This record gives sequence, structure tokens and C-alpha cells, in this order.
Amino acid sequence: MLPGAWLRWACLLLAARLAQPCPVGCDCFSREVFCSAEELAAIPPDIPPDATDIVFVETSFTTVGTRAFGGSPNLTKVVFLNTHLRHFGPDAFGGLPRLQDLEITGSAFSNLSADIFSNLTSLGKFTLNFNVLEDLPEDLFHQMDALEALQLQGNRLQTLPGRLFQPLKHLKTLNLAQNLLVQLPEELFDPLSSLQTLRLSNNALSGLPQGVFGKLGSLQELFLDGNSIAELPSEVFSQLFRLEKLWLQRNAIGHLPLSVFSSLGSLTFLNLQGNVLRVLPAGLFAHTPALVGLSLSHNQLETVAEGAFANLSSLSSLTLSHNAITHLPAGVFRGLEELINLYLGSNNLTALHPALFQNLSKLELLSLSRNLLTTLPEGIFDTNYNLFNLALHGNPWQCDCHLAYLFSWLHQYSDRLFNIQTYCAGPAYLKGQVVPALEQEQLVCPVTRDHLGFQAPGLEDREPGGSWEMAAEERAARSPCTYSNPEGTVVLACDEARCRWLNVQLSPRQGSGSPGLMYNASQEWDLKSRCGSVRVTVSIEARAGEP
Ligand SMILES: *[C@@H]1O[C@H](CO)[C@@H](O)[C@H](O)[C@H]1NC(C)=O
Ligand SMILES: *[C@@H]1O[C@H](CO)[C@@H](O)[C@H](O)[C@H]1NC(C)=O
Ligand SMILES: *[C@@H]1O[C@H](CO)[C@@H](O)[C@H](O)[C@H]1NC(C)=O
Ligand SMILES: *[C@@H]1O[C@H](CO)[C@@H](O)[C@H](O)[C@H]1NC(C)=O
Ligand SMILES: *[C@@H]1O[C@H](CO)[C@@H](O)[C@H](O)[C@H]1NC(C)=O
Ligand SMILES: *[C@@H]1O[C@H](CO)[C@@H](O)[C@H](O)[C@H]1NC(C)=O
Ligand SMILES: *[C@@H]1O[C@H](CO)[C@@H](O)[C@H](O)[C@H]1NC(C)=O
Repeated sequence: MLPGAWLRWACLLLAARLAQPCPVGCDCFSREVFCSAEELAAIPPDIPPDATDIVFVETSFTTVGTRAFGGSPNLTKVVFLNTHLRHFGPDAFGGLPRLQDLEITGSAFSNLSADIFSNLTSLGKFTLNFNVLEDLPEDLFHQMDALEALQLQGNRLQTLPGRLFQPLKHLKTLNLAQNLLVQLPEELFDPLSSLQTLRLSNNALSGLPQGVFGKLGSLQELFLDGNSIAELPSEVFSQLFRLEKLWLQRNAIGHLPLSVFSSLGSLTFLNLQGNVLRVLPAGLFAHTPALVGLSLSHNQLETVAEGAFANLSSLSSLTLSHNAITHLPAGVFRGLEELINLYLGSNNLTALHPALFQNLSKLELLSLSRNLLTTLPEGIFDTNYNLFNLALHGNPWQCDCHLAYLFSWLHQYSDRLFNIQTYCAGPAYLKGQVVPALEQEQLVCPVTRDHLGFQAPGLEDREPGGSWEMAAEERAARSPCTYSNPEGTVVLACDEARCRWLNVQLSPRQGSGSPGLMYNASQEWDLKSRCGSVRVTVSIEARAGEP
């Protein structure tokens, strides 16, 4: 375990071993002492008195007696990693008035008594990760008034005493992840008025008391993912005015009270992925206008009400993939002016309204993969000037005259398709053909065939593994930047090395009278993007005509 820590210390020590007195089985480097000898029988009595840091890794002694480090009063940091510690004397870390950082990680003790840690009044950071603690005495943190970070991750805690955190008025970070907590006393976190980050991920919580976070007015990030929460009390987040990130993924939430997020005016990220939501109440996000990222993937949504995302005018990423959505109302994305990434893959969409993506002028990435789409309506991407990453694979495309709009869009912007392996499912003579490789003349409609009545055969998943979202995020991380003018008539997309396409519309969109660009003339545009700005100059030079 923890090979990183090993290596880091080993390198330091190899680099500079000093010939100062050092306990057998340890290495001393300046005022840092590193002990890793398995045969070390106890805490060495001859630790240099001026030591400030001491670290034990994989040592086999089992006991730390009373005031074991009393001879080195300047210690600020004491660490035990993957040792065999099981017994601590009373006041084991007494006599260390400067102790700021105490860590005991990866040992096998299951109980602790409060007198071990009495008087640690200067301690700022206390880590007890990955031991097998089953419960904690109520007064364990007595006198730890200065504590700012407490880590209890990866133990076997099932319950906690209600007054456990009473002294911790300055605590900023509390990590209780990966325990076996089934429920929380309602008053448990009340003293933690300075708390900024609370991790409760991967426990066995099946619910939350209404007032459990009621005093956490400073909380910025709350992790509740990986529990078994089925219901959220409607007021449970009502005092979290500063909360910015809320992680609720991988629970069993099937229903959200309408007002549950209504106090979260600072919320920027909300993850509800992997629950069992079937419907979203309209107005659920009416009071979270700061939201930038929202994930609802891997739920059981069959549709989303018009107005469900109203007021999310800062939202840049919306993930609705892996649901059972069969249709979407025309205006469901209305007002999402900042939307850049929209994931609708792996649903049951059979048709889309022509205005569904209207005015999403910043949209750069759209996944429609793995749905039941046979065609796309005329004009559907006409206002998505920045769209350059489109996933269409895994749909039963009918390659006939109804696909003409999509086909010409793809030809115009040939490098925008995320996955070229986008096949026709019909008609029979085009089945299995790659859509963008077809010729316009092949997209014909037999007069007799009823297009809509045509039942498409299931199309196999032809993309070799991998999640599209992941790949697309990687792609986005390689920094494609889309520059455009405010009107969206001139758009330039560049990735890190070069600019990949330029789209210039010279005549205005709705005849506002201004002419296009004259022969032998040029025009300049200053285009802006998240990455900065560029100037584009277009010149048109008429050459003498050839016969
Ligand atoms: C502890 O640190 C103080 C101040 O840095 C110093 O004066 C004192 O000598 C140190 N004590 C020991 C035992 O080295
Ligand atoms: C746990 O309890 C046992 C029995 O009471 C005791 O011997 C042991 O020292 C305790 N361990 C710790 C780490 O306090
Ligand atoms: C606690 O620390 C103070 C100051 O360092 C000391 O005077 C006192 O004796 C200590 N008490 C215990 C119980 O160790
Ligand atoms: C949210 O949007 C709705 C409908 O667009 C509007 O009536 C309401 O006032 C908005 N609420 C807030 C808090 O902005
Ligand atoms: C969605 O489609 C899948 C596969 O075609 C099907 O098994 C499932 O029942 C559909 N779900 C809904 C809600 O229509
Ligand atoms: C798009 O914008 C136009 C002009 O502002 C407006 O008339 C239209 O209703 C908008 N469409 C949608 C779906 O928001
Ligand atoms: C544009 O310039 C070319 C020479 O560079 C000239 O032959 C042509 O007549 C000019 N056309 C117009 C419309 O001025």
C-alpha cells in the first residue's frame, strides 16, 4: 500500500544521507526521520531531539506508550503508514506542544480510547484512514480546538456518537467516505460551522435526517455519492447557501421533492447520475441559476418536461444519456444560452422536433448516438453555428430523401462527425453503408414506400468499446476552440495545433439589406472564444475569366 509515499521518502534519503546520530533502523535527513525497518522493536528511544517530522512505514512493533515522543518536543508531524500498531498508552502523543499533523493509516486496530489523544491542542490535521475502526468514543476529539482537517476514510464505522464533533469549531474538511454508516444522528454536524468539504461517499446511508446539514452555512462541497439514499427530505439542503458542488450519483433516488434544491443559489455542479429517477418536476432547477454542469445520466427518465431546465442560463454541460427518453418537447432546452455539451446518447428517441436545438448557438458537442432515430428534420442544426462534434452512430438511419438535410450538413462540415462508423439501416440496398460516404443521388424515396411506417431492423453496436462522453471530453480537453463573431456568421474552429475549419456567411441571415462582399474587396472580423480572440480577413479577388 501507498508505494508513492515510500518512494518519495526513499528518494529523499538516497539523495542525502547525513552522518548525524540516527536510531538504528531509521534514516535521518535534516530534521526528518524515516523508520522502515521491520525488525524495529519499539519507538526508538534515541530520536534526535530536534526532529520535526517522523515517519514509520511498515514497521512491526504494536505499541506506542505514554508520551513516547517526549524526548523530541519539536515534532510537528508524526506519521504511521501500514504499520502493525494496535495499542496506545494514555497520552501517547503528549509532550508535543507543536504537533500539527498526526497520521495513522493502514493499521489493524478497531477501537480507540479518548485518553490516547488528550491535550492535542495544536493539532491541525488528524488522519486515521484505512484502519478498521468500528466505533469512536464521544470525547475522542476533546480539546482538538485547532483541528481543520479530519480524515476517517476507509474504516468500518456504522454509527457515530451525536456529540463526537462538538469541539471542532474550526474544522474545514471532514472525510467519512468508505465506511459502513447506515444513518447519521441529526445533530452530528451542528458544531461544524466552518466546514467547507464533507465527504460521505460510499457508505450505506439509506436516508438523511431533515436537519442534518442545517448548521453547515459554510459548506461548499458535499459528497453523498455511492450510498443507498432513496428519498431526500425536502428541506435537507435548505441552509446550504454557499454550496457549490453536490454529488448524489449512485444512490437509489426515485423522487425529488420540488423544493429540494431551491436554496442552492451558489450551486455550480450537480450530479444525479445512476439513480432511478423517472420524472423531473418542472421547476426543480428554478432557483439554481449558477449551475454549470448537470448530469442525469443512467436514470430511468422517459421524457423531460418543458421548462425542466428553465432558468439554467449558465449551464454549459447537460448529460441525459443512458435513460429511456422516447421524446423531448420542442422547448425543453430553451434558454440554455451557454450550453456547450449536450449528451442525449443511449436513449429511445425516435424523432426530434426541428426546433429542439434552436438558439443553442454555443453548442459545440452533441451526442445522439444509440437512439432509435431514422432521420433528422430539415434545419435542425441551422442555429448551432459552433457545433463541430456530433455523434450519430448506433441509430437505424433510413438513407432516403428524408436524410437529405443531414447528409448535406455532413458534407458541408465533413470533419464534424465524431464517429464515421455511422451506418444506414435501410433501405435494404443501402443497409450497412457508411452514411457520410454516400452520394447525394443515392438518397431517394420510392414513391410507394411509407417512410414512417418502415420498421428499421435493430442496428448492432459497431463502435469498439469506450464511452463516447469520455472520448469527447478528452477531445474537448485537447482544447478545440471555436471563435465567432456575435452574430455567429463567421465561425472558426481550431484545435491546439491548427485551425480546422472556417465558416463565413457573407450575406446576412434574415435579409437586413446589407450586401455581401464585393469582388476585389476584403473584410475583417474580430472573433472571440473562450481561448482568446483572432482576426480573420477574407479577400475576394476576381480573376480574368477563362473561356
Ligand atoms: C526546538 O525549537 C526551538 C525553536 O526553534 C529551539 O530553540 C529549541 O532548541 C528546539 N528544541 C530542541 C530540543 O531541539
Ligand atoms: C482496544 O481495546 C483492547 C481491549 O480493551 C485494548 O487492549 C487495546 O489496547 C485497544 N486498542 C486501542 C488502539 O486502543
Ligand atoms: C496539556 O498541555 C499543557 C501545556 O502543554 C500542559 O501544561 C498539561 O500538563 C497537559 N495536560 C495533560 C493532561 O497532558
Ligand atoms: C425561472 O423561470 C421561470 C420561467 O421561465 C420564471 O417564471 C421564474 O421567475 C424564474 N425564476 C427565477 C428564480 O429566476
Ligand atoms: C427502450 O429501448 C430498449 C431497446 O430498444 C427497450 O428494451 C426498452 O424497453 C425501451 N424503453 C422504453 C421505455 O421504451
Ligand atoms: C430563438 O430565438 C428567436 C429570436 O430571438 C425566437 O423567436 C425563438 O422563439 C427562439 N426559439 C427558441 C426555441 O427558443
Ligand atoms: C479585379 O481585379 C482584377 C485584377 O486583379 C481585374 O482583372 C478585375 O477586372 C477586377 N474586377 C473588378 C470587378 O473590379
